[in-house]
Amino acid sequence: MDTPAETKKIIFSGIQPSGTLTLGNYIGALRNFKLLEDEYQCIYCVVDMHAITVRQDPAALRRRCLELAAIYIASGLDPKKNVIYCQSHVSAHAELAWILNCFTYMGELQRMTQFKDKAQKHADNINAGLFTYPTLMAADILLYQTDLVPIGADQKQHLELTRDIAQRFNGVYGDVFTVPEGYFGKVGSRIMSLQDPTRKMSKSDPEDTFISLLDPPDAIRRKVRRAVTDSEADIRFDPANKPGVSNLLSIIAALTGQSVEEAAAELRGQGYGKLKDRVSECVIETLAPLQSEHRRLMADKAYLQGVLTENAEIANRMALRTLRKVQRKVGFAERLK
Ligand code: AMP
Ligand code: TRP
Repeated sequence: MDTPAETKKIIFSGIQPSGTLTLGNYIGALRNFKLLEDEYQCIYCVVDMHAITVRQDPAALRRRCLELAAIYIASGLDPKKNVIYCQSHVSAHAELAWILNCFTYMGELQRMTQFKDKAQKHADNINAGLFTYPTLMAADILLYQTDLVPIGADQKQHLELTRDIAQRFNGVYGDVFTVPEGYFGKVGSRIMSLQDPTRKMSKSDPEDTFISLLDPPDAIRRKVRRAVTDSEADIRFDPANKPGVSNLLSIIAALTGQSVEEAAAELRGQGYGKLKDRVSECVIETLAPLQSEHRRLMADKAYLQGVLTENAEIANRMALRTLRKVQRKVGFAERLK
């Protein structure tokens, strides 16, 4: 693949290689990645630099970067059409992040709920990277003149900040950055924990709260069977009063293309056991092809490494165009080469 044609609009998104991906990642983000493959030039990043804002075991992180690249491909993304690469392989991300740090206010970063959550969870390691995480994310997005960012609802606040930074920078230097829009799925942009359906499903929580994309069928059935519901026996979508049941209905709707109301109507009067069976069935059916393709790819590390190397070169070429322009605008000394 050559440097992508400039006429196509750009999609950018990233996922952290910080644990096994969950069904939340799949429904909120990954499954949407493929939808616009032909209309847009899509760039999907393994954001390893974001992942080290919390402590990682180096060998595990290295393995998970390849694993995530394999998951991107196994979910149907063609690495010849989509730019799939590792963030740390393109140094423009770090360079632009520094510049954007100088256009972002402490107060803005202090308001970020993800920072507050993670600072609470990792009270022994509230590092500066965790604090400036959103400016790195803004750099990821703005480097590629991104039009559209498919993400789950939890990332909305970071995207809003990205837009503010872009507009602020453009206000000073003229139209340097495209101001990106978010892309959220109709259902499932916030899949909740199976054990506490008032919190989002997260890969950093205990095992029985989430479904991993690589869980075998019996583990999926067991986790879904134990999912918290409520003491009524009424299957309807009502997130405020029935968060557990509503979460299960959202999963079915997201995976089948039904609306939550249709999913509820189909199961009405059948009891929570049946509802859970239906959830397991949909999840297992969706994940089976992804898992077998993932296994095949992980057996061929040389191929995966080749994909990442080739695509990092393409990303690098695209990113440098924006970075050089930004450096010129802010007044860095001219480079003759
Ligand atoms: P992360 O795992 O934090 O790197 O998230 C990667 C992508 O998955 C982001 O677009 C998130 O918004 C999305 N995501 C993560 N958890 C969930 C969830 N429980 N429900 C929906 N989307 C999610
Ligand atoms: N912050 C995102 C998350 O935790 C991951 C991410 C990093 C991202 N850079 C991005 C998502 C750029 C979309 C676009 O989920």
